[in-house]
Amino acid sequence: MNGPRLCRIVPRAARSIVLVLDLVHQSPQRIRMNSLIRFLALFLLLASCLPNSSAADNNSALARATTAIEAATPRAEADPAYPIFHITAPAQWINDPNGPIYYKGFYHLFYQLHPFSDDNGPKYWGHVRSRNLVKWEHLPIALWPSTELGEAEVWSGCCTINCNGDPMIFYTSIAPGKPAKTHAEQWAAIGDKDLLTWHKSTANPVLSEALHEGKKIYEWRDPFVFQHKKRTFMVLGGNLNETKGGQAVVNIYEAENPALTKWKYRGVLFQIPSPNARTVECPNFFQLGDRWVLFFSPYGKVEYYVGDFNSDTCRFHPQTHGLLDYGPNFYAPNTMQVPDGRRIVWGWVTGFKSGHGWNGCLTVPRELSLTHDGQLQQNPAPQLKKLRGKPVQWRNASLNAETKSFPLPVTNTLEIDLDFDLANAQSVALKIASGNSSNVEMTFDNSKFKMPGTDAPLSFVGNKRNLNVQIFLDRSVLEVFANGVMCATKVIPPPEGALKLELRAEGDQSKAKRIEAWPMKSIW
Ligand code: FRU
Repeated sequence: MNGPRLCRIVPRAARSIVLVLDLVHQSPQRIRMNSLIRFLALFLLLASCLPNSSAADNNSALARATTAIEAATPRAEADPAYPIFHITAPAQWINDPNGPIYYKGFYHLFYQLHPFSDDNGPKYWGHVRSRNLVKWEHLPIALWPSTELGEAEVWSGCCTINCNGDPMIFYTSIAPGKPAKTHAEQWAAIGDKDLLTWHKSTANPVLSEALHEGKKIYEWRDPFVFQHKKRTFMVLGGNLNETKGGQAVVNIYEAENPALTKWKYRGVLFQIPSPNARTVECPNFFQLGDRWVLFFSPYGKVEYYVGDFNSDTCRFHPQTHGLLDYGPNFYAPNTMQVPDGRRIVWGWVTGFKSGHGWNGCLTVPRELSLTHDGQLQQNPAPQLKKLRGKPVQWRNASLNAETKSFPLPVTNTLEIDLDFDLANAQSVALKIASGNSSNVEMTFDNSKFKMPGTDAPLSFVGNKRNLNVQIFLDRSVLEVFANGVMCATKVIPPPEGALKLELRAEGDQSKAKRIEAWPMKSIW
């Protein structure tokens, strides 16, 4: 950091002035002049003994942000829409999950945070951790803009351990008054052994535009680091045509030193074929089984590609393609690899209204896998079962055109699991009916899942029409999983009163082989 530099210069200058004055012959006028200079020198000396101003700025930036969060917390907590089993900040605005990492017995997650309001604004990094993916704790803000280093915002990125064993965060640094579209740098911060305190690397910027040797990358951001065959790579998003669409790219870089402070540009890993993709934000690139998965957020629904990676040429050759989430309120997901090799993803749940002391949360952790035909599957992490309270359950309910009603636990924080055999029915309609007008309605048919704002393809395994549906309702957040391959996230007005599950089959009979529902506990 630059702070200590100023601290070193000021006392040295002051001491030299005093020394020079002691040496020169002193006339009466000189004595008056010298007294003034002595006073100035003394002032400089005293000032230098105070904590240096940059460091003070730095700490007060953190203190101001922390106070702003604390002040807004009671309001956020009192809001009936504030989720209890989805990760949120204690208060204020959050967006992307950042730097998920499992380290020394803790799952750590950071997130983009605007601490001064429940609306979008300059970004900091919030921090939570958990021992078991069930109960989480809030930790102090991890990163904030180092204004003394000419930084206005700390944008999304990742967390890794470098080849010397040091925890490192890589993130996109935004300078004051410079548009992110044309000016961005990738910076690093080094963490302590508990990942609690971070200091900016003296090597910053660790990646700058000069690496591209004249090729302009717009919206260049969101580093994601991965290791392969004892080499360390980074992918970064952006586009080549001023974000006009059709030239969104994932760029790839390779580390040249164990401290991961020197990088080489290895070119474009993959150019997104869709003409509608305007840019790539928050790319993730990782191995899943024997395949490679790339996903990214293109200012629209999050896309994934599954294929092969050639680490010599640094090129990706995809074979299959799909969407991570078909709902209207999911963006900028980020993944963590856990010690047994599984990979977990969290997304940002977008689209809340401001004015309630909080805004934004993360999805539940979803475990990733691939189907035999290369589709990405997401299943709620099994640890979430620990949050379940006392169940209500029904078996083998036959469904027809008449609505059947099942009383749910009396709460609006619920998990509902269903196994249907669609049998000969055209479709099944599901409603969570509430005491107010905030009903949640969806339908499942041969090939489609539908709810307001969502129209998604649905596939069945083999020629059986078996459908597993998992629904997480957390006051204003709804996540639906169907057969693991269709996920949809939606922000809703919180249903109130005694909730009922209502089921109906259209066309012909169908069967709900299993209906189970649990009240869900808080993750805090
Ligand atoms: C995605 C994103 C990232 C950026 C961050 C800023 O939502 O735009 O590309 O780093 O948010 O908060």
